[in-house]
Amino acid sequence: MDDAMTLNTSMDDLTHVSLDEFREGMAVLAGAVNIVTTDGPGGRAGLTASAVCSVTAEPPTLLVCVNRGSSAAPAFLTNDAVAVNTVGPAHRDLAMLFGGKTPMDERFAQADWVPGSAGAPMLTGAVVSFDCKVTSRAAVGSHEVLFCEIVGIARTPDTPALAYFARKFHELGV
Ligand SMILES: Cc1cc2nc3c(=O)[nH]c(=O)nc-3n(C[C@H](O)[C@H](O)[C@H](O)COP(=O)(O)O)c2cc1C
Repeated sequence: MDDAMTLNTSMDDLTHVSLDEFREGMAVLAGAVNIVTTDGPGGRAGLTASAVCSVTAEPPTLLVCVNRGSSAAPAFLTNDAVAVNTVGPAHRDLAMLFGGKTPMDERFAQADWVPGSAGAPMLTGAVVSFDCKVTSRAAVGSHEVLFCEIVGIARTPDTPALAYFARKFHELGV
């Protein structure tokens, strides 16, 4: 009962969460490791993203949050084709490359890709790749939330996955 009363506070009573507190909290929210790619009139681009989540099954939709300050952002803001490639330990170095300051062509040169039906690069050997079309976007603070309708799915069976937790990659067995 006390807990319920504590939660039942007005918005005015909520304390401010600092950037450091947010970062420390998010660091221990484990997430899958995804290399999210796009191609189209805005050019080919990709970045490593853990901010990927299921939205609804009907229509099959996921969301991706892209920092508008990243070098990949202009392409994601222009193109309609997006692929979410969830990776395993075999692509640990690739995930670091797509999470760093490496030029786009060098990132893509390190792996094999095939275009999805929507047009974005699908990573050969990914745990799962979601072939998507962006249906809407929302600007929230520093990030653009992309709502992506899934038009195809490719899986590599029996492939271990990676989780990002406490600022490190962890292997998840099948
Ligand atoms: C494990 C991990 C998860 C990340 N998650 C996200 C994310 O969800 N959204 C995002 O915009 N950037 C995320 N990043 C950062 C981008 O990958 C990085 O900013 C991007 O590659 C930018 O580099 P650039 O501006 O040099 O191209 C993540 C990085 C790592 C290593």
